[in-house]
Amino acid sequence: MSPKSAKPAKSRKASARSNPRGGFEELPAHKAYRFLEAGPIVMVTTSDKGKPNIMTMGFHMMIQHDPPLIGCVIGPWDHSYKALCETGECVIAIPTVDLATTVVDIGNCSGADIDKFSTFRLTALPAQDVAAPLIAECLVNIECKVADRALAGRYNLFILEAVRIWVDPNRKERRTMHHNGDGTFTIDGRTINLQERMVLWKQFQD
Ligand SMILES: Cc1cc2nc3c(=O)[nH]c(=O)nc-3n(C[C@H](O)[C@H](O)[C@H](O)COP(=O)(O)O)c2cc1C
Repeated sequence: MSPKSAKPAKSRKASARSNPRGGFEELPAHKAYRFLEAGPIVMVTTSDKGKPNIMTMGFHMMIQHDPPLIGCVIGPWDHSYKALCETGECVIAIPTVDLATTVVDIGNCSGADIDKFSTFRLTALPAQDVAAPLIAECLVNIECKVADRALAGRYNLFILEAVRIWVDPNRKERRTMHHNGDGTFTIDGRTINLQERMVLWKQFQD
């Protein structure tokens, strides 16, 4: 227990008597994302008539194994939205902790105003199946095509299909960052292996 949450036993008992939900404190429902947004913070590249751009994205989730579908929230306030709608293509690039401040800065400016690749000294590499570039400095790059945009008008939700994945096997720093929704990030830590218990899901272990 962290020093912040440590309470003397007596006061916890007293608060349990007056609170039917024990020691739980209520938070506003709109903060659910702070607990569930555990995937790594990513960057999304697009190509706007040949001009590459990058944005930062925290709202994403896996939806299906095969074909691999990923749900992504990309809003019309982002310059990237237009390019994604027009081309139906993007790359999801996964940065590691050495790029932390760059990732946040990229999410705080617009490709409508600046060339983010040159401003942030990132290297665009050609993808194979999409016009959007890979980012050389990232650990993983996933080439994606929009598979379904039916909910884009309502929730800014694009369903992307991953068509190709590029991983840098030589990168030393491999720790990804996880946004807590408030500008703080949790860095990957220890991995525990519970594969022997995954009796129903063996096919996803390779
Ligand atoms: C940590 C972080 C997470 C973000 N997550 C999202 C997101 O999930 N969806 C989104 O549309 N914008 C998100 N943004 C905001 C965009 O990255 C931001 O609007 C960016 O400047 C858009 O770039 P563009 O105008 O060049 O497309 C996030 C920004 C930060 C800093």
